[in-house]
Amino acid sequence: MKRVAILISGGGSNMVALVESMTGDHPARAVLVLSNDPAAGGLARARDLGVAAAAVDHRPFGADRAAFEAELLKPVLAAAPDILCLAGFMRVLTPAFVERFRGRMLNIHPSLLPKYPGLHTHARALAAGDAEAGCTVHEVTPDLDAGPILGQARVPVLPGDTEATLAARVLAKEHRLYPAVLRRFAAGDRALVFL
Ligand code: GRF
Repeated sequence: MKRVAILISGGGSNMVALVESMTGDHPARAVLVLSNDPAAGGLARARDLGVAAAAVDHRPFGADRAAFEAELLKPVLAAAPDILCLAGFMRVLTPAFVERFRGRMLNIHPSLLPKYPGLHTHARALAAGDAEAGCTVHEVTPDLDAGPILGQARVPVLPGDTEATLAARVLAKEHRLYPAVLRRFAAGDRALVFL
C-alpha cells in the first residue's frame, strides 16, 4: 500500500477529493495532510476524514525558504510517504527539496500546461480569448509548473465567463483528474489520463 502525503495551503478541495478516492482496492492511502498555513480550512477537513493533519507556518522564516523547508521536512519524513501530492499548495519549493522527492511528487495546476504556468491562469485564458481551458497534473521538477505531464482535463470557455465561473468549472474537473492520475501513478502506471 503506497503512503501519500498531501500538501495544502487553503481549503483543500483537491485534498478532499484525493483522500476520498483512496479506498477499497486503491493502491494508496493518505497518511498526512500538511499545510504552510495553520489557519488552512483543509486541516479540519482532513481530520474529519480521519487523516493526520499538521501545519508548519512559513511566515516566521521570511525569505529563508531552506529554513522553512527544513522544518516542513520533519512531519513529512515522520510520515514516510512514498508519494507527495501538492494540492493547492502555494509555496514555491527549492530545487533541493524537489530533488529529494523527484519522481514521486505530483502537482495539479489550473491550466493546460505548457500554457499559463504560474498564477492567474484563468484570467490569462480569458484575456487571450481561448476557447478551452483546463487543468494539468504533472510531476514536480525544479522548474515551476514544467515537469512531465501525467494527465489533463479540458473545459470549454463559455460566453460571459468570468474568472470565477471558469475557475469553478476547472476545479470540478480537477477533483476528477487528480484522483484518476494518482490511482494510476500509485500503481506504477504512467499512461496519460485525459478527461
Ligand atoms: C485550485 O485552483 C487549484 O487548481 C490550485 O489551487 C487552487 C485551490 O485548490 N492548485 P484547493 O481547493 O485548495 O485544492
